[in-house]
Order: sequence, then C-alpha cells, then structure tokens
Amino acid sequence: MIKEIKKWAYDKKFYGEAEKRRGVGEKMKRSMDLSGKKAVVFGIASDKSIGWSIAKTLNDNGCKLAIGYQERAGDYVKELAKELDNPILEVCDMMDDDLIKKFFEKVEKEFGKYDILVHSVAFAKKQFLQGKFYEVDRKGYNTSQEVSAYSLAALIKASHHLLNDNASVIAMTYLGSVMAVENYNVMGVCKAALESSVRYLAFDLGDRGIRVNGISAGPISTLAASGISGFDEMLEHAEEKAALKRNISQEDVANLALFLCSDLAKNITGQIIYVDAGYSANGM
Ligand SMILES: NC(=O)c1ccc[n+]([C@@H]2O[C@H](COP(=O)([O-])OP(=O)(O)OC[C@H]3O[C@@H](n4cnc5c(N)ncnc54)[C@H](O)[C@@H]3O)[C@@H](O)[C@H]2O)c1
Repeated sequence: MIKEIKKWAYDKKFYGEAEKRRGVGEKMKRSMDLSGKKAVVFGIASDKSIGWSIAKTLNDNGCKLAIGYQERAGDYVKELAKELDNPILEVCDMMDDDLIKKFFEKVEKEFGKYDILVHSVAFAKKQFLQGKFYEVDRKGYNTSQEVSAYSLAALIKASHHLLNDNASVIAMTYLGSVMAVENYNVMGVCKAALESSVRYLAFDLGDRGIRVNGISAGPISTLAASGISGFDEMLEHAEEKAALKRNISQEDVANLALFLCSDLAKNITGQIIYVDAGYSANGM
C-alpha cells in the first residue's frame, strides 16, 4: 500500500525537484555492487596495508582498479596485484606533482573518467612519532603534512576533471586528529588537516554529487603503524578500553569503504566515520 502511495505521489509530481534530486520517493537500487566502476587507490606497501584490503574488496565487488604505488614498494605491489583483475599499476609519489600528473594521464588514457578515489597514505619520520610533539623540526613537519594531508588536495587538483559525477572519495584518518594520543604527535596534526580537507573538498565537489569522507580507524598492525613508538601498547589499550573489547582489522575498514563507495551512502559526505570497536565513544 505504502509503495503504491509513493508511486502515485512520484508520478503526480507530488515531490518537488529537490526531493527528486535526493531520490525521495524513487525506488532505490540498494546495492553494494560496484560493477563497472573505476577506482584509483593510493597506499599499498604490503599485504597488511589498509589500502590493500580496500583494493581487494573493491576488486571483488566489480571495480576496475588503478593503483599508484611508491617506487620502493613496486616489487611487492606487482606481486600482490596478481590477485586482482588486471589493474593499472603506476609509480606515484605524493611529493612529486609530475608523477601525480603522469599517473592521472595514464588513468585518463586507460579509464577515461573514474568513480572512486582511495587515499590511504601517510608518512612521518620515526623520530617524530615519539617523545614530545614540539621536538618536530620544520622540515619534518612540512614533509609529513605534504605527504599525509596536502596530498589529498593535490590528487583532487590533478584529477577533478576525471572524476565522474556522483563519485566517492575516501581518506584514512585516526583519532589522534581530535585528541592528543601519546607518540602520535605530528601525525595527529596531519590528520587534523586531512579531516578538515575532507570537509572543504566535500563542499568543493558537492555540486557534482561527489562525496568526500574520512574513515577513522582504530589501531591496526601495518608498516606505517610500526613507526609509532609504543604501538603494541596502543593495541592492547584499545582492546581493553573499546566498548566491544577487541581490536579491528583491515577488513573492517574495507567494509566501511565499500559502503561509502556505494549508492547506499549517496547522502553521506564531509564526514569522519569511526570504525574502532567503539573506542572513541568511551569517556573512561
Ligand atoms: N594502521 C593503523 O593503525 C591506522 C589507523 C588509522 C589510520 N591509518 C591510516 O591508514 C593509512 C594507511 O596506512 P597503513 O596503516 O595501511 O600503513 P601502510 O604502511 O601499509 O600504508 C601507508 C602507505 O603510504 C604510502 N606512502 C608513504 N609516503 C608516500 C609518498 N611520499 N608517496 C606515496 N605514497 C606514500 C606507503 O607507500 C604506504 O603504501 C594511513 O593514512 C594511516 O595513517 C592507519
């Protein structure tokens, strides 16, 4: 009965243009099937990388992939990529605008336009992920900001003309952006900039239906994480204090990424969404 009333209302133009743009009253295809979508992923260095888990999940749900990897991770990425359906593989470095440009020229040649951008990249020298935050020097601060935060804007700047309308952009972040977390230091400041970038980019691209969101993940053992002093204690602490009394996995992050890339999340943008077993919701 409700279905019939909705159809009647829709046919009779009961809904205004704004409602129609939002899909109100429309029969929605509720699906996480991304068949035919084209995704660009940055941030694979090992099979433990969050970026790898997301790439695999997108691949398994029908996406064609283009992967931008740091030169030093090349052999490993090429080996891993054998598990994917013939992705584009190209060296790219967030510190190098020419390489970013070259990367997207290849994407344009092979894909034309694309639908999903995954930013799973961060870097700070190990010496700045311990002790006092104020010990960071100017160069260390600038490099980590450039790689971990500015890079999101740089990737959009270089490729916004290749993004299809209604595309989805996601970036990986961590609670250290909004709270001081021992040893996370300069990376917390980078993540604050990254999260703010998410909101500004969501605003920039919203008129094309393009959504930009951040995933704030709980701690997971990866190469990047191993650079943070006392990371094992962070894992233990998170498990003990999280509402669900457990740590999360790369797959948990990939599942949220899949949802955010799908039509089901079509009205979610400019958000930082936590997947941390409830850790961030605890006061004590
Ligand atoms: N592991 C965690 O606990 C955790 C938690 C929350 C958020 N994150 C975030 O997830 C993202 C992925 O990290 P990860 O934990 O999977 O570690 P990872 O080491 O597997 O991935 C980091 C990636 O950044 C890339 N990278 C570093 N410098 C680069 C540069 N100059 N140009 C291009 N790429 C560069 C590396 O090649 C690597 O692929 C990062 O943004 C990280 O801050 C991680």
